[in-house]
Amino acid sequence: MGKEIKTIGVLTSGGDAPGMNAAIRAVAREAIHNGCRVMAIKRGYKGLLNEEIEEMKSVDVAGIIQQGGTILGTARCPEFKEPEVQAMAAEICRKHEIDGIVVIGGDGSYRGAQALARHGINTIGIPGTIDLDIACTEYTIGFDTAINTAMEAIDKVKDTSSSHERCSIIEVMGRRAGYIALWCGIANGAEDILIPEEYDYDEQKIVDHIIMNRRYGKKHHLIINAEGIGHSTSMARRIEAATGIETRATILGYMQRGGSPTCKDRYIASIMGAYAADILAQGKTNRVVCYTGGQYVDYDIEEALAMTKSIPEYEFQISKNL
Ligand code: ADP
Ligand code: F6P
Repeated sequence: MGKEIKTIGVLTSGGDAPGMNAAIRAVAREAIHNGCRVMAIKRGYKGLLNEEIEEMKSVDVAGIIQQGGTILGTARCPEFKEPEVQAMAAEICRKHEIDGIVVIGGDGSYRGAQALARHGINTIGIPGTIDLDIACTEYTIGFDTAINTAMEAIDKVKDTSSSHERCSIIEVMGRRAGYIALWCGIANGAEDILIPEEYDYDEQKIVDHIIMNRRYGKKHHLIINAEGIGHSTSMARRIEAATGIETRATILGYMQRGGSPTCKDRYIASIMGAYAADILAQGKTNRVVCYTGGQYVDYDIEEALAMTKSIPEYEFQISKNL
């Protein structure tokens, strides 16, 4: 096996996600259990470059499992794509005697981890994003909390929309992926679900659907629109003009990324965090922890980044019949 791991670092990078704190806690507690020293790295790769590094004891992660966000802070750090910056970061790790790092984030963050691994710092990635858009894993930390937060908000908009007999377009997050939209669309009983993977930009079809539903006596028409399509406000204006039915757009935005994590997010984040600390202790490097077929597994980052996944076609198709 590889080099002995005495000190590990942990950082969160990219967009935050509920459950990241549970993952941080599990990484720290399991690593300490394995006899390692743990260093908290603040503000992602930016904090690493600024040497915002301090030792984290077991007590420092007490009382955080139920908190949204990330106690370490997160940041985007575009300069981390530059080879000389990556080499400098590895030198900073050596200076602080950090043998390995757990990176909690998305695909972009894994590329940073990959670069550190090339420079001799053992790295393990953990999937943390509300978007569920990481191909190598069936679950990403934060998704369950985000869809439940969005679902509750959408129920509320639907109440007022029905009272006023309006059409509502509700935009949910997901970057270029439609998972949040699909799950909420089905769970909220939406009349239309627009996701970038499937949308044909035929607005007339939506207009016809709204008019037909109104004839059948429906008091509301709920459209869940994914961020990857966007333009909800102008879409609402066009739909109102074409149907004569009052139409409002609601963009849920960052409220979907906050809040106390659900049980599922706390549980999966805890297992993934401990798993990451364990494989790091075994000397593994350049790996990402994944949840696949009911099992926790790890893949080489290169291999993981080359994987693709698509929206479940059957689930999307049946959503139209419900
Ligand atoms: P996510 O990790 O959620 O996909 P980003 O794509 O914004 O979020 O990436 C987070 C951070 O990871 C970036 O700000 C940058 O510091 C680092 N990163 C992204 N892409 C690369 C890359 N190609 N090489 C090295 N580091 C990268
Ligand atoms: O990746 C999570 C996410 O919330 C996406 O759904 C969204 O596109 C993006 O982050 C927004 O990022 P930022 O915080 O940089 O605005």
